[in-house]
Amino acid sequence: MNRPQRPHRPRLSPPSAAETGFAHAPALWQLLQQTAESLLAVRQGQSTTRVLPRVRAAWRPGVQSLLFQVLRHLGRAQALRSRLAPRAPAPAVDALLCVALALCWDEVSAPYDSHTLVNQAVEAAKRERRTQGQAAFINACLRRFLRERAELLVATDSDPLARTNLPSWWLERLQRDHPEHWSALVDQARQPAPMTLRIQTRRTTREALQARWAAMGLTSQAVGRYGLQLTRPVDVRALPGFLEGECSVQDAAAQLAAPLLWDALLDSPRRHASGPWRLLDACAAPGGKTAHLLEIAPAGDRPVDLLALEIDAARLPRVQENLQRLGLQARVQCADAGVLQQGGEQPWDGILLDAPCTASGIVRRHPDIPWLRRASDVDQLVAQQARLLKALWPQLRSGGILVYCTCSVFRDEGQNQIEAFLAHNTDARLRPSPGHLMPLATGFPADVPDNRLGDHDGFYYAVLEKRDR
Ligand SMILES: C[S@@+](CC[C@H](N)C(=O)[O-])C[C@H]1O[C@@H](n2cnc3c(N)ncnc32)[C@H](O)[C@@H]1O
Repeated sequence: MNRPQRPHRPRLSPPSAAETGFAHAPALWQLLQQTAESLLAVRQGQSTTRVLPRVRAAWRPGVQSLLFQVLRHLGRAQALRSRLAPRAPAPAVDALLCVALALCWDEVSAPYDSHTLVNQAVEAAKRERRTQGQAAFINACLRRFLRERAELLVATDSDPLARTNLPSWWLERLQRDHPEHWSALVDQARQPAPMTLRIQTRRTTREALQARWAAMGLTSQAVGRYGLQLTRPVDVRALPGFLEGECSVQDAAAQLAAPLLWDALLDSPRRHASGPWRLLDACAAPGGKTAHLLEIAPAGDRPVDLLALEIDAARLPRVQENLQRLGLQARVQCADAGVLQQGGEQPWDGILLDAPCTASGIVRRHPDIPWLRRASDVDQLVAQQARLLKALWPQLRSGGILVYCTCSVFRDEGQNQIEAFLAHNTDARLRPSPGHLMPLATGFPADVPDNRLGDHDGFYYAVLEKRDR
């Protein structure tokens, strides 16, 4: 794995009020302070999805951008901080130091000039109660970094966490699971992911939406069967067609789930059955794949009776909101798919199990994941996935299809999980399936295998058919 190889970007100035559209644009020191506060919360175990909504709305895009950059370079920042201050300072001081170091260690990817960053980090320290007593210490550490940058970078190069930004157990798994390509996977995990939309082809065509966006200077390219990938991210609520339900945000690999289930169902013995198609989306929130299953249901065919289950009641409203925006209907229930009783329900023709997982395939979009996961999480999640597979399989009709997927690049959550399942379930047949799909960032050398669509997240897919015993 190499240092990030992105083209040199022009340095940014702190956003002006005119640029943000708000009367009082934050100063850079304010953004740094808020970023350090957010980093502190992540270090205490909170995800960025929980932390960022607490940042005031006008500052959120700026803080998110800085926080994501910090999380992508936190391993290096921590190693540098240990060299500059071998005794760890108080958490708030350490967070601010690491924010400044993560943003300025690499002159190619630094969003601001290093001296500006250091001045503003010291200003941030002076303005906050928990750090003001240490402002001179922060200043001394950062100025020493600027003076001794080259030597300090060489010294920290020997630290694997500094080089890879991944904990050792994660790195070992990647090396074991992908012996030839782990290094490319490590490199691209630090790149931002593109913004990809799924087009609702019942309401518009991909070409029509692409032309509409192009007319306002927003270029995109087709990806997969239903996707358009933007050349730069935008606020989705301002994207023409979004509020009207013509498109949804969804990564290109995630867009494979619904077509895989429908293609297999239309090629299965269930094709010739009568009555509605009975589909179960076992782990549904926030409802991206639920909606896609309904959007691409075969036109003029049997009606679709879809039950979307979700264990977390707090995540259910997102499913409803998505379905409403897209004009789709499903039954939505809060339940544990692992203890689902047949009860009044008939068995299902098709089941989608988008199982809870480590999310090791979506680090580009969620750079907090390597900092939140523990090694023991993998075994717990693998056991949970096995429990869900075991509970759902008897609910599937003979001839029915179960699509299992995870957004993980770890083989225990993909190929190994399904091999173990097949060994214990002789009525299950693995149909032609994508298997592990590796993430690959645009512009990276195409030396990662199993990357079908270009720029997409890491995923695993298995399509299972239930045979007569
Ligand atoms: C990978 S996410 C699903 C993403 C969703 N399919 C989509 O495309 O928008 C996994 C979801 O499963 C839920 N979940 C975890 N365990 C579950 C269980 N035993 N029963 C039902 N849902 C569960 C989690 O709360 C989470 O919302």
